[in-house]
Amino acid sequence: MRVYCAADYYHASRVAANIISAQVIMKPDCVLGLATGSTPIGTYEQLIRWYEKGDLDFSQVHSINLDEYRGLSPENDQSYRYFMNKHLFDSINIDKKNTFVPDGLEPDKEKACRDYEDIIHAHGGVDLQILGLGHNGHIGFNEPGSAFEKETHCVTLSENTRQANARFFASIDEVPTEAYTMGIKSIMQAKKIVVIVSGESKNEIVKRAFTGPITPEVPASVLQLHNDVTLVGDEAALAGFPR
Ligand code: GLP
Repeated sequence: MRVYCAADYYHASRVAANIISAQVIMKPDCVLGLATGSTPIGTYEQLIRWYEKGDLDFSQVHSINLDEYRGLSPENDQSYRYFMNKHLFDSINIDKKNTFVPDGLEPDKEKACRDYEDIIHAHGGVDLQILGLGHNGHIGFNEPGSAFEKETHCVTLSENTRQANARFFASIDEVPTEAYTMGIKSIMQAKKIVVIVSGESKNEIVKRAFTGPITPEVPASVLQLHNDVTLVGDEAALAGFPR
């Protein structure tokens, strides 16, 4: 695993954006696995800036997002589709037809998951997967206890995760109780993975995930078994982390 420790969030975001840029330049028709949450926002801002300067071209890029709340429409400003449009897709020249987020409105859980796996496979898998890290070690919405062999599936969100994400909603009652997420197996099949972490609140879980035992209780710990993982963080998140 490679570790890049930047002074602060802004510089960590630039490192992560540089890695994504390199991917897009080396393979213009690559498949990017994208993540939501507050952490990658700075990375997406950098990509937009470099696109505006003429340094990046997303016209042939395809993207596959990790997860989506079940029951939220793309127009709902808390849906991850809305997030991706707002924080990235609306500001770059990616063709929206080439961007994929699980269908939060598909009532048939099995169908929603099967359709999403079909999309991943039809694109030949993900070249570069971006991940954030939940405070309980979740990746995507794979909560502690998630079986490593799962592909895209429907999850019941933990109270911890609903509380953590409640800040984006009017009240905790509005936070959906379920979500569709790529599974650990789907994530582990990405050719390369970049994990972005920021802030002191992630410090403990980063250590547990990357230096502790590999266990479904800390879903991100499985990443220790992947052979191309880059961890990008700021000083606050990586303090005391072996480098
Ligand atoms: C959500 C997302 C995850 C993300 C996590 C951390 O639960 N489903 O993909 O990694 O939040 O979010 P943040 O970056 O805001 O700490």
